[in-house]
Amino acid sequence: MAQPHSTPKPIFTALPSSSPILAFITFLCVSGLYIVYHPTSNTSTTPNRNTPTTTTLFLTSSNNYTISSYLRDLTLHPHLAGTKASLETVKYVENHFKGLNLETHNVEFEALLSYPGEISLDVYLSDGVVRKLELSELGYSGRVVVPYHAYSPSGSVFGKVVFVNYGREEDYRVLEALGVNVSGCVAIVRKGEVFRGGVVVRGSENGIVAVLIYGDGDRFNGVERGTVMKGLGDPLTPGWGGVEGGEKLGWEENEVKKRFPKIPSMPISAENAEIILGSLEGVEVPYEWRVTLHSKVGGVGAGPTLVNFTYQEQKKVVKIHNVFAVIRGWEELDRYVLLGNHRDAWTYGAVDPNSGTAALLDIARRYALLTRSGWAPRRTIVLCSWDAEEFGMVGNSRCSLY
Ligand SMILES: *[C@@H]1O[C@H](CO)[C@@H](O)[C@H](O)[C@H]1NC(C)=O
Ligand SMILES: *[C@@H]1O[C@H](CO)[C@@H](O)[C@H](O)[C@H]1NC(C)=O
Ligand SMILES: *[C@@H]1O[C@H](CO)[C@@H](O)[C@H](O)[C@H]1NC(C)=O
Repeated sequence: MAQPHSTPKPIFTALPSSSPILAFITFLCVSGLYIVYHPTSNTSTTPNRNTPTTTTLFLTSSNNYTISSYLRDLTLHPHLAGTKASLETVKYVENHFKGLNLETHNVEFEALLSYPGEISLDVYLSDGVVRKLELSELGYSGRVVVPYHAYSPSGSVFGKVVFVNYGREEDYRVLEALGVNVSGCVAIVRKGEVFRGGVVVRGSENGIVAVLIYGDGDRFNGVERGTVMKGLGDPLTPGWGGVEGGEKLGWEENEVKKRFPKIPSMPISAENAEIILGSLEGVEVPYEWRVTLHSKVGGVGAGPTLVNFTYQEQKKVVKIHNVFAVIRGWEELDRYVLLGNHRDAWTYGAVDPNSGTAALLDIARRYALLTRSGWAPRRTIVLCSWDAEEFGMVGNSRCSLY
């Protein structure tokens, strides 16, 4: 973490300096007196340092019951960054740190996030049947944000579907060699090792007009939401941490727009993908693709199946919150050991991020036990609970640049 270079909020500034000389003299007097009366012991103002006893206390105070109760509280509802539900979770973490008497900071700032508006996907099968696909997971419509890709542009496309395997450049070369013209088509891509944002960009470079990504062989029929933005951090402050009142770019500037894909995209379930893939015809799926493929794919296309995919993006500048607990070091006050995890969760988030946050809260509880016994770490420890990570490390980037 770099030291602040402008005049940021005083999160990591030194101790308050109300008459330091007087305090120092008082300290000398008190410790002098103390040493006189307790010649062999330490001074009372020196914090307890790490000893086998503090280490044992820290390790044995680990507790599954507290962690599981934090996890339960955190997973009661999703908390998408910038929403009211998210604010409740901010308060939960902040109150936890404060309740432990830890020095707590709630650093709030604005960032450009992206939410879904109207979304629809209609499949036009070759026999004339039109199917309007249900996009939310069964039973979760309205409770969890509809599956979407943050920073996907709005768009409505009506075109033939083509299956492009993992959507890598080599996959497009295979299709080209097979004589498949993907230009003007909607691509269905199986999720692989490649970052989804890169998959969308590669699609548009190859003439694709929209991208639908699914998890091949996903037995749970889950849908992977996520960002398709290129790079990390608030798109309006590319490469620097947006401090309050600091420089920000406009939405329409090139530096901002080049971080978003040019064509719309969306994640879909394996079941929905199969409805479309099973109805494709044309060239047979190449053997190399087929050996690891779980879904039934009629052919790579293009077509005859058509889809009408409509996506409406809502960009918003919203308040997001990084919450910190600071435990001051006794020797190297200005050196920080950061322990952190993001807090925002688009769905229930029991694994990512809430299990990590539950562990972070329990570590805070255990450090508080030690500080109550007079212990202090050698370097300053900062427990960090970052916001808006799922949008592209928006809160995390802000912290590390601060
Ligand atoms: C916590 O639960 C795990 C898994 O059940 C177990 O291995 C571990 O010993 C438990 N720890 C404590 C401190 O109870
Ligand atoms: C590929 O398809 C597009 C859109 O239908 C068309 O404009 C283009 O001429 C086709 N290219 C070839 C090589 O057939
Ligand atoms: C595609 O769907 C959108 C949203 O329902 C609709 O407004 C549009 O007219 C449709 N386009 C076609 C070509 O059917």
